[in-house]
Amino acid sequence: MSTTKLLYFQDAYQKSATAKVLEVVRDGTQTALILDQTIFYAQGGGQPADWGSIMGEKSAFSVTHVSYNGGAVLHKGTLSGEIEAGEEVTLEINWRRRYQHMQQHTAGHIIDQAVKNVVLGAQSVDGNHGIGKQLFVEFSTPLHTDLIPQIQSAIDHIRAANLPITSEMVSYEQLIERQIKLPFDLPQNKELRIVQIGEYPPMPDGGTQLLSTGEAWPIMVTDIVEKDGKWRVIHTVAEEVSSVAKNQTKIEEASSVQPSDQLNALLQNIEHMKAEFLKDNAQPEKLQSKYLGKKGVFNQLAQTLKDIQPQEKKLAGQYINELKTSLETAIAAAQTQHVATQAWVDLTVPGKKPAVGHMHPVSQAMEEITHIFEQIGFTRVRYPEVDWDHYVFEALNMPPNHPARDEWETFFVDVPANQAFGKVVLTTHTSNGQVREMERLHSQPPMRMINISRCYRRQQDATHTQMFHQFEGLVVDKGITIQHLKGTLNYFAEQFYGPGTKSRIRPFHFQFTEPSFEVDFSCHICQGTGQVTHDGETTKCRFCKSGWHEVGGAGMVHPNVLKAGGIDPEKYTGFAFGWGIERTYTLKEGLNIDDIRLLYSGDLRFLEQF
Ligand code: PHE
Repeated sequence: MSTTKLLYFQDAYQKSATAKVLEVVRDGTQTALILDQTIFYAQGGGQPADWGSIMGEKSAFSVTHVSYNGGAVLHKGTLSGEIEAGEEVTLEINWRRRYQHMQQHTAGHIIDQAVKNVVLGAQSVDGNHGIGKQLFVEFSTPLHTDLIPQIQSAIDHIRAANLPITSEMVSYEQLIERQIKLPFDLPQNKELRIVQIGEYPPMPDGGTQLLSTGEAWPIMVTDIVEKDGKWRVIHTVAEEVSSVAKNQTKIEEASSVQPSDQLNALLQNIEHMKAEFLKDNAQPEKLQSKYLGKKGVFNQLAQTLKDIQPQEKKLAGQYINELKTSLETAIAAAQTQHVATQAWVDLTVPGKKPAVGHMHPVSQAMEEITHIFEQIGFTRVRYPEVDWDHYVFEALNMPPNHPARDEWETFFVDVPANQAFGKVVLTTHTSNGQVREMERLHSQPPMRMINISRCYRRQQDATHTQMFHQFEGLVVDKGITIQHLKGTLNYFAEQFYGPGTKSRIRPFHFQFTEPSFEVDFSCHICQGTGQVTHDGETTKCRFCKSGWHEVGGAGMVHPNVLKAGGIDPEKYTGFAFGWGIERTYTLKEGLNIDDIRLLYSGDLRFLEQF
């Protein structure tokens, strides 16, 4: 019988060709043409036959099936007109159909490799790349649906790596010589076509393949099912509309890639290691350190990455990563299996309690302070911690260049100033909330606010951090006096530090209050006496030295501040107080924190104590 030259083995992208008719075989109404060469793919290897047309001088032949018969390709279909042996004909294949089949076929090979990368030693035995509906690659190695995410990512890797797909015809001797292992026996007297993805081990193949994995359409593994003791990786292949242009450039890049000797050596070493691993019958618990330990085989191999040329580094790194993942999976699997068969598990042992953190001590203090003031009708508000000079200083009776501003070691933000509101600063105190609160309430007292926020000053030592917190109280109403301030301070002292704690106010100066005070709380160690008696001996209290702890400032709201907030100082009065949360908190009984910077050290040994 005649033989047909298979043009698609040289160029899978050839869409039309000319050929000579060798034989016209008639069988009833059916006609089959045998040509000297063809671009029509003959069904086989899981890939369906091509369709298309063969045009003669006085005939048109529509091809609906193509099969292979001992070296000859039979083009079957319906003929109109006359055709004779020896005639020149023009062939054209249905390219859409063919290209789809190429995609599906290459997808099968990519999945095959991906599964082998995930499950070392996996053996594929069959596949369906388009005949019938369901696409699958079949393995004789047990696979579980749990592996789908890993297989999927291995597939995506191979696609993303845009590996060249090459094919060649080799003799049986060459196979042996090149140590190419085949999954099944093949006739020894024929040339064999092998296909290779990147530098992965070649596979025998008779189908049409894409030029590179980057050209492959997205592949989705949808299921893994067992059938007659074999495992099918079921998948779909679908075109990504926007990828057409992108793939074109990838094809061009891919055809110029030739792996270097170093990369080839690396790949050989990887394969070698996989083979060694499979033969290894070390105890599962030893595998981890032997292969993946610091001085393990894997790390030694990874060292050789530095010898790889820069342009191949990415690819090489990917191979190495894939090797690592497959080793990890294989070792984990070996160990679970080991545990399952060896270890006795007591299912009644209570589970391990996951570590749960707790709120930072400063947050705890903020909640407590908020709660204490809410009890007497204050409302917690929040105002910006990056604010205009206007609210931080000017509206608080501190015009620009006023010397009182110097007390607040201010951080300025390097942005243009606003005409009406001035520069932007990191708030140096929570008093910026005073006029903002008056504005929020449309200058309509009564108002009782508690404003808690971060503050910033250029100071850092054992009692100062550049970022800290303050809380600010403001009460404005008719007939508010120092008595109300004093009562509020005493209430807070007892609630926060415990019964019996007293407050004390001493004259001071702030621009935004008149009169102004400094606020102290009585020391809980010496009850405000400044002295402790121990074994009949009386000494100075080391904690406070004077009986009192100074915590912050307070005063009656300055008329100018009320005016800045649109409130008539003739009708209304108010008091305000404000001080640092860190300082207030660290004075609590039993805390004994002598360096407030510890609060922000992030040291869990410290923080876990609160
Ligand atoms: N804002 C002042 C400071 O940071 C404290 C204070 C608040 C004083 C309210 C009086 C009234 O030091």
